[in-house]
Amino acid sequence: KAAEKAGYEHFMMKEIQEQPKAVLDTLNSVIKDGQIDLSELGLDEEEIRKISQIYVVACGSAYHVGVAAQYVIEDLARIPVRVELASEFRYRKPILDPNGLVIIISQSGETADSLAALREAKSKGIRTLAIVNVVGSSIAREADNVFYTLAGPEISVATTKAYSTQLIAAYCLAVQFALTRGEITEEYYTELIAEMQTIPDKIRKVLADKERIQWFAAKQANAKDIFFIGRGLDYAISLEGSLKMKEISYIHSEAYAAGELKHGTISLLEDNTLVIGVLTQADLYEKTLSNMVECKSRGAYLCAVTSYGNYSMEDTADFVTYIPKTDAHFATSLAVIPLQLMGYYVSVAKGLDVDKPRNLAKSVTVE
Ligand code: G6P
Repeated sequence: KAAEKAGYEHFMMKEIQEQPKAVLDTLNSVIKDGQIDLSELGLDEEEIRKISQIYVVACGSAYHVGVAAQYVIEDLARIPVRVELASEFRYRKPILDPNGLVIIISQSGETADSLAALREAKSKGIRTLAIVNVVGSSIAREADNVFYTLAGPEISVATTKAYSTQLIAAYCLAVQFALTRGEITEEYYTELIAEMQTIPDKIRKVLADKERIQWFAAKQANAKDIFFIGRGLDYAISLEGSLKMKEISYIHSEAYAAGELKHGTISLLEDNTLVIGVLTQADLYEKTLSNMVECKSRGAYLCAVTSYGNYSMEDTADFVTYIPKTDAHFATSLAVIPLQLMGYYVSVAKGLDVDKPRNLAKSVTVE
């Protein structure tokens, strides 16, 4: 076991560190001559132009990738996207457009609800594409086409590198769909690909700041509740940050779209309740910042994850962690790193079983 952990104390930290490579490998698997080539996924130009609607169906963290994918695909490719929990989709008699595309996202390829959702979609005759990490898994075998993420084996129950590779796979679909459907220029397409290629190094840069996050996280071990807030893609990241925190630290946490605070959550804030704001989207920065100020005036203790350059954040937040600048569509890939590290270090500080949290399984193969 010690050898398998390659010197790290836990698989989770090893897998966090493997993210730059996992993301790069996954990206490179579809880049040919500087372009994204989806032809091996059965998605030629005609097929891509035909897509009328996308349904992303998944569970857990893979569902959170779907929430991010919805923002990115809709914004770049202008195709309507609906994201659903597999356990809901399978039972609600979904109304599926025959020219739609169902995308099932699953690390293991064995999650019972996701597999059942795939079968439900197939029984309706709709085209299916699976984004899967485990080669030859049930979902990979049964889907019409598979986009394999190249994360390698993931042992820690809390997913990190598989999540990051699923995100990059979703970006590749969004960017290629956008070009093929004439929604973006060739020039912007080239820029987006070049930017995606910088993500692995930028993740490395965030990881280099891990001691500072450890210092902050270790002080949160006694927190009772933690709230994560953000808007747009920052809300999608908040969902994943909150899940990471609660599943391995056993601290109750919730993610809220920042604009929803005033509809309930704000009454839960007490002196020193930790609120973690994610602010990577420039056009929403001021809005979320004002939500942070509202939380602070009710006694909250504030942590912010934002991009380098947003130094005014220090006037409001008690602790700020910065991520490198990138195209707004890809910020999730960077902002999730400090959130993974926070969950990890809080769990370590509490002396918990980081890799095998109680009551959870790596792959839920029963309903
Ligand atoms: C379990 C894992 C989660 C994972 C979810 C979906 O609950 O603990 O980390 O996101 O299943 O798993 P899948 O293999 O379908 O991605």
